[in-house]
Amino acid sequence: MRLPHAQVAILEAADANEARRIEAVAAEADLKPETATGAAFALEAEGLVTLSEETVESAELTEEGRQYLDEELPELRFYRAAIEAGADDSPAQMGQVIGEAGLDGEAVDIALSNFARKGYGHIDSGEVTADSDADPDADPEAAALAALDAGNAADSDVLDRLEQRNLIERTETTVRSLRLTDDGVTALMEGVAVAETVGQVTPELLTAGEWRDVEFAEYNVEADAEDVRTGKKHVLRQQAENVTDVLVGMGFQEMQGPTVDADFWINDCLFMPQDHPARNHWDRFALSRPSQIDELPEDLVERVEAAHREGVGPDGEGYHSPWDLDFAKALALRGHTTSMTARHLSGEAMGDLEPPQRFFSIEKAYRNDTLDATHLLEFFQIEGWVMAEDLSVRDLMGTFEEFYAQFGITDLQFKPHYNPYTEPSFELFGRHPETGELIEIGNSGIFRPEMLDPLGVDCDVMAWGLALERLLMLVTGAEDIRDVHGTLVDLDFLRNEEVLY
Ligand code: PHE
Repeated sequence: MRLPHAQVAILEAADANEARRIEAVAAEADLKPETATGAAFALEAEGLVTLSEETVESAELTEEGRQYLDEELPELRFYRAAIEAGADDSPAQMGQVIGEAGLDGEAVDIALSNFARKGYGHIDSGEVTADSDADPDADPEAAALAALDAGNAADSDVLDRLEQRNLIERTETTVRSLRLTDDGVTALMEGVAVAETVGQVTPELLTAGEWRDVEFAEYNVEADAEDVRTGKKHVLRQQAENVTDVLVGMGFQEMQGPTVDADFWINDCLFMPQDHPARNHWDRFALSRPSQIDELPEDLVERVEAAHREGVGPDGEGYHSPWDLDFAKALALRGHTTSMTARHLSGEAMGDLEPPQRFFSIEKAYRNDTLDATHLLEFFQIEGWVMAEDLSVRDLMGTFEEFYAQFGITDLQFKPHYNPYTEPSFELFGRHPETGELIEIGNSGIFRPEMLDPLGVDCDVMAWGLALERLLMLVTGAEDIRDVHGTLVDLDFLRNEEVLY
C-alpha cells in the first residue's frame, strides 16, 4: 500500500492496543499537530485507524487571580489583619482593619463581601468580629488557585466560584486520540510505502507533463485547522460600510465636513438659541487653541442673526434673547453632524443645491454625556437629509422603514419629540433582540422655516441623525454600547463577529 508521507508516519507511530493522543503521535512522527490531525482523518476514512474525541476542560488564572496567588486573597488579608487587631476577642474598627491589611480601592469591597460569605467573621455597624476557629491557611479558593497554577485539578464547585469572581478563565478543548484498527495492523505488516504526493500544481509539472503521473494529495476540508488571526475590519466599521451601501443604494450621496466646527454651523444655523442648555460649556468639548473660526459668510451671519432676533416671515417671533457673533464663532468638537447638513444646505460646502437632493454622512459626534450602557462620549451619527418639494412625515417614516428593513428591523416605533430646528419632530425606537427593551435609535424631523429661510432653501427638507452604535446593538444583540466600541470590548467579539445585513 502507498500512502502520503504524513499518513505513513502516523500509522507507524499509532498503537493497536491503546488509544494515543494525536499530539503525542504527532511529536513522535515529527509532524505539526494540524498535519497529523489531517493525516489521522484520512487514515480513519481508509479504515486504518479509529479516532475518538473527548472534551477536556482546563482553567487558567486571570491577571487578578494571579495577583491574589502572589499577595493572597483580599478576604484572607482582611481576616489576618482582624485577628492581629484582636477582633476574635472584641470587635475592631473596620477602617483600622482595612488599613492594617493594606487594602484599598476595589479590593476593600472584595475583601468585605467574601470575608462574610466565607464565614471568617462578620461586620456590623463598622465593627469587625473575626471567628477564631476559621483557618485562612485551609481556604479552598486559595488552595484551588495554587492547584491550578501547579497544573493540578481542583474541585469544580470551587472553580465555579472562582470563575464568578473572575479569578480564572475556563476553556474547553477537544482532544483526539487514535488507535490502529485490524486493517491498519495488516497494512503495516504487508508494508506501507511513502507515495510521492503533490499538494500544488506548479508550472513545471504542467510544462513537463508530469502532472499526469503524480499522485495529488487529497484535502480534508473538515479537518481542524490552526486559527489564523489576520487583521480585520472593526465590527463598527463593517456596520458603517453596510449602512453606506444601503444609503447609496437608496440614492444618497456622502457629505464631508469638519470634525471641529464653529458653533455657528453646529447650532446657530439650526435655530438653536444661544442660551439653549445644550450650548452651555458643560455639554460641549470646546477648543481653546484656536478658540474661534477665522471666517463666516457675512450675509449668512446677518440672516441667521435676524432669524434668531426677529424670527422668519410676517408673523415671525424671534427668541428675544442676546445673539453674539463671538459666541457663534467659538470652535468645538461637533455635538452632532447636523453641522455638515447646515454647511451643505447654505451652499457653503458645494454651492447652491437644487431639489431634489439626498445626502448622508456617517461621522463622529462628541457629547459630554455620562457614560452608561447606551452612551459614550463620542459616537457615530448617521446623518441624512432629503431636499424636495412637498415632503411630509409619511415620507420620513417610509424612508426609515425602508432603511431599517435592510437590517432586519421591521418593528420601528416613532415618538413625537422637540428640536428647535424641526417641526414636526420625532424620535425612533427599535426593540432590542435580547432584552426586548425599546431603545432610542435616532432623532428626526422636517426643518422649520426659521432654519431653512436664512440658509436660502425654499423647498422642504426632512432630516435625521441616527446612532450607528445603537443600530449595531440591535443587529448583534450586544446589550452594552461599551461591548461594541471602546476599551472594554471583548477581543473574541471583534475577532469572530460578522456584521451581516
Ligand atoms: N441633530 C439631531 C441629533 O443629534 C438629529 C437630527 C438631525 C434631528 C436632523 C432632526 C434633523 O439628535
